[in-house]
Amino acid sequence: MKKTMVVMLGLVLVSSSAFALSIRNSKHDLSNSGAQAIRATSSEKLCEHCHAPHNAAPKVPLWNRLDPAAASFKFYTSSVTLSTAAKNAALSTGSISLQCLSCHAAAAGVAADVNAFVRDNAKDTDLNTATYVGTFAAGSGLGTDLTNDHPIGFSYSVAVSQRGVTPNKGTALQPIATATNATNQMVFFNYGAKTDQMECSSCHKVHDNANPPFLRIANTGSALCRACHQN
Ligand code: HEC
Ligand code: HEC
Ligand code: HEC
Ligand code: HEC
Repeated sequence: MKKTMVVMLGLVLVSSSAFALSIRNSKHDLSNSGAQAIRATSSEKLCEHCHAPHNAAPKVPLWNRLDPAAASFKFYTSSVTLSTAAKNAALSTGSISLQCLSCHAAAAGVAADVNAFVRDNAKDTDLNTATYVGTFAAGSGLGTDLTNDHPIGFSYSVAVSQRGVTPNKGTALQPIATATNATNQMVFFNYGAKTDQMECSSCHKVHDNANPPFLRIANTGSALCRACHQN
């Protein structure tokens, strides 16, 4: 019995440190200890830059930052091929993309923009007073004009049905059951009244940089693209 407990504890330690390590020293380690592009001047924490254990807002995923104004974003569009769902893309409170954009919309690519959305969470004195310093590498600050970025902010399943396989609709998309395939990689999100939403996190895995840059699967041979697109 005692031996089993020791073995189990060992497993817990191994798996939890493996998880922590994937953020620690990654570009999403915003603690003051690292040499990351953007880092806090005072907080040694790892998770609380994004999450709060209590009094979180939005509640999911226990979020600890303010959302930027959803209306400020412009999305990709194309004349013929794009589905109506994607043409009408919009983000609202609870959208994971909006949460990413609370840092990545950094227009000038500087920490000041990351600081602008620090939540005044009185329960967390450490982060309440955190100030971030540094500069995003070129490309990491997407700004608010997302018209040159892959479309997000609409229902994937609706886009699949509207896009279909008719001639001038371009290539068809995998049905959701296939896109969330055997290896369970592509993910779509529900929040508020919205379902199956295509978000930044449909392609990115924010905690895990095993497939840089934080991709759900390696894009070798464009495998990531082809998990959704039937090319
Ligand atoms: C840079 C921001 C960021 C940091 C830092 C971060 N997370 Fe997250 N976390 C997110 C986002 C965004 C989600 C929403 C789900 C997604 O995007 O996959 C999430 C979701 C989660 C979830 C819900 C499970 C899931 O995958 O849906 C857990 C649990 C979690 N994070 C734990 C942690 C822990 C523990 C740490 C610290 C070791 C941490 N996170 C650090 C952004 C972050
Ligand atoms: C708390 C701020 C913050 C949040 C929230 C955040 N990021 Fe980041 N992210 C950063 C910083 C800082 C970097 C490093 C930028 C650099 O190196 O120039 C980064 C880097 C990245 C990179 C590039 C990594 C590389 O190797 O170049 C990707 C991809 C990324 N983030 C995706 C996301 C996604 C997707 C979300 C939401 C699910 C998200 N981030 C949420 C701060 C954040
Ligand atoms: C359709 C899949 C997909 C979606 C959706 C997506 N990304 Fe990416 N992202 C990628 C791929 C693939 C790369 C790597 C591109 C490369 O290396 O040229 C990347 C690269 C990045 C980088 C690194 C930029 C650089 O030039 O090095 C950042 C930061 C990033 N994404 C953030 C985001 C954010 C924030 C969102 C949501 C607003 C988002 N991504 C939505 C697939 C996606
Ligand atoms: C998680 C699923 C998913 C992944 C992964 C993905 N896409 Fe997409 N892509 C979509 C959806 C959904 C649309 C919107 C299609 C529509 O609504 O007509 C789209 C649209 C596009 C468009 C615009 C099509 C048009 O009609 O204007 C291009 C180009 C594109 N994707 C390329 C890529 C590339 C390149 C990759 C890999 C780096 C990729 N996609 C990865 C789901 C995905």
